[in-house]
Amino acid sequence: MADQGHMPYTRATIAEVQRVADIVPLSLPHRTTAELQLEGYVIPAGTMIIANLTAILNDPKHFPEPEKFRPERHLDERGDFVQNEALIPFSIGRRVCLGEALARAELFIFFTSILQNFDIRLPDGVTDPSMHGNFGFVWMANPYLLHCVARQ
Ligand code: HEM
Repeated sequence: MADQGHMPYTRATIAEVQRVADIVPLSLPHRTTAELQLEGYVIPAGTMIIANLTAILNDPKHFPEPEKFRPERHLDERGDFVQNEALIPFSIGRRVCLGEALARAELFIFFTSILQNFDIRLPDGVTDPSMHGNFGFVWMANPYLLHCVARQ
């Protein structure tokens, strides 16, 4: 983990994977405990609130051409990693994902370990995996094939 600060492109790639993968698309449902006003709307007490994280992670205001996988969008002109405030795959606020720190560490360690140990490519004759996945409480990738060869 100590190397992470010196690996801005890796961080940017993981950030972009999290944006595109969008694995918890509707966060968890919440409920208002009191009436509140939000941008001119009155929201009564007891209303179920479902945050659409997909809409935020694909908002062209924050992520131009959101359909494109582009790690460079998370780098500044010097190549340093920039934390985009709209990149909220773990949601935000008091009930933000409790496992965020653990998940971030695991993503970095697993991703770098896999790339250090394997060359990865599509098997001959196999096209790119579908980016549509299987929508539900979590958004899961459909099964796909990769060819992983241990590095010497
Ligand atoms: C990439 C991996 C993960 C993503 C994208 C993710 C995302 C989320 C999201 C969007 C929420 C809903 C937050 C809200 O209600 O506003 C959540 C809640 C939660 N997550 Fe995760 N999560 C991940 C991994 C983990 C891991 C590894 C753990 C446990 C070790 C974990 C534990 C929890 C718990 C306990 C909550 C409920 C928090 C609460 O209601 O106070 N998550 N997560």
